[in-house]
Parts: sequence; structure tokens; C-alpha cells
Amino acid sequence: MTVLTETISTTYQLHSDTTTLTPAQLLLVGEAKKALENAHAPYSQFKVGAAVLLTSGKIIWGSNQENMAYPSGLCAERVAFFTVGAQHPEDKIMAVAITVKSNLFSVEQPLAPCGACRQAMLEFELKQETPISLILHGEKGNVAIIDSVKSLLPLYFIEERLKKD
Ligand code: THU
Repeated sequence: MTVLTETISTTYQLHSDTTTLTPAQLLLVGEAKKALENAHAPYSQFKVGAAVLLTSGKIIWGSNQENMAYPSGLCAERVAFFTVGAQHPEDKIMAVAITVKSNLFSVEQPLAPCGACRQAMLEFELKQETPISLILHGEKGNVAIIDSVKSLLPLYFIEERLKKD
């Protein structure tokens, strides 16, 4: 019997601000900032915006939609990705920009998507068989660029026997 110690590492880029982003990345961050204005976040006062760039060039917005029955609400990332699944099923997702604005404090670090959103975004990446890059930005400060959802969710849940085909 053997016991191995495995190490998991993730590589990503950290830009000290938005000035070193490509024009396309900058544009997508701008779209995410517009998207968060549609958040319904009266309970957390924490607005999250996601802008998804499709291969067709279309940009799809998502924002967190909270509910008085708290668990019924949904995060910005899943609102955006599920909209793509519902309305643009033949398109592929190239990138997503995710941003945040709190009414209570200044967010100066990139927002790391929650675990449930990582799992949901991962399924899109697996299905389309091409990586989705993530651009994460707070209200100001660092911008994190991550090349794939997979790299954000090592040891993700996958069960081939659940697949029907
Ligand atoms: N939220 C998101 O929209 N995305 C995340 O990745 C983390 C959290 C939302 C959910 C809730 O409306 C608010 O942020 C505070 O948790």
C-alpha cells in the first residue's frame, strides 16, 4: 500500500490594473460593469456582473438575481451561462468577464467565482471542447486572467455514467 502526496497548482496572470489588458478584454470588462447595474441585490448590496463573449461576436449579460427566499436567487455567472445555453446553444463561449460592486465597501480584488458557478461554467467548457478564459476584476485594482474554467476547478465533479449518450 502506498500513500502519495499530490500538489495542485494553478497558473494565472495578475495585471496590476486594466491598462495592460487587450482592447477586447477591456471591452468585455466594460460590458460586465454595465451588466451589474441590472443586478437585483437588495439583501447583500453586492452587485455582480458577467459578460460572456461568444464566437459569433455576441455578448451576453448576466447579473446576480437575489430573492427574499435566499437560496432561490442565482449568481451572475450562472444567469449569463444559462442564458447562452437557452438562447445560443450552437455558439461557443470564448471568454467571460466578471466584475463586482458593493454598496457597503470598496472591492479592490478580483472576484473569485463561487464553487457552484465554477462547476456550472465547467460543463459548458467540457461540452464545447474549447477553453473559456476568465477576466476577473473588482471595482479597481488587480485584474486576474485565467485561461480556462478547468484551471479554476481542479478535481471537478464528473461522472461519465450519468451521461445518456
Ligand atoms: N454572487 C455572484 O453573483 N457570483 C459569485 O461568484 C459569488 C456571489 C452573488 C450571490 C449573491 O447575490 C451575492 O453575490 C452575495 O453573495
